[in-house]
Amino acid sequence: MNTIIPEWQDHSGSLNSQTSRLVVTIDGPAGVGKSTVAKRLAAHLGYTYLDTGALYRGIAWKVNARNVDATDLNQVAALLETTTLALHSGEDILSVHVDSQDVTHEIRNLAVSQLASTVAAHPPVREWLLSIQRDFADKGGVVAEGRDMGTNVFPHAQVKFFLDADPEVRINRRYHELQEGDQDKNRDNVQREMAIRDARDRSREVAPLFPAADAMMIDSSNLSIDQVLAKMTEVVAAHL
Ligand code: DC
Repeated sequence: MNTIIPEWQDHSGSLNSQTSRLVVTIDGPAGVGKSTVAKRLAAHLGYTYLDTGALYRGIAWKVNARNVDATDLNQVAALLETTTLALHSGEDILSVHVDSQDVTHEIRNLAVSQLASTVAAHPPVREWLLSIQRDFADKGGVVAEGRDMGTNVFPHAQVKFFLDADPEVRINRRYHELQEGDQDKNRDNVQREMAIRDARDRSREVAPLFPAADAMMIDSSNLSIDQVLAKMTEVVAAHL
């Protein structure tokens, strides 16, 4: 059984208290700044932030903890039968619970990133997560971030963005995101990890990373977070 518990925030005074509750999707490769802008856009709109990468990371964390071979579709699919996954979205942080264990911080290292991308290529994993993601957005009022939000999970979303940036910029951003003291925190490691992961995410057979035909493309290489947000809020406002 899967549970997902969005803790709806008090929207009083927020934009959406007077207007419609849209589904806004933000897709793009690793290190492009999706999480930061998605979180801030959700806060600005009074919407719930859905970090779908955290779901794949949660499964990857368990795969690792149980010494399951992440490349083995059958082993990973069997593991899901005894897995519960919950996201608790609070004001600032979205916490991830696997089988009731809080793994919010453990899922953020490079090893789990790689495993997440590996398990994400298995169709049963994507299928398993589909209803969880859609349930989260069934009342609208969601900013959903990932790789296949606009193409596969929410093809009817009212507003879709695809965020991209030069690889060098993405590597720097990802490097700075890693915690001080993280044993993986080394620029070469980050570069290698990102190249492998991006290639895998873009080339897998099921729901690969690519922009939806109706997504607005934003290249954030030379834009600040505030500038990206300004563009996005303008587009969203036109749909409210
Ligand atoms: O966004 P992230 O770096 O936390 O995602 C980790 C991995 O999860 C990513 O490399 C591919 C996979 N993923 C996916 O396949 N589809 C999504 N919607 C989100 C993440």
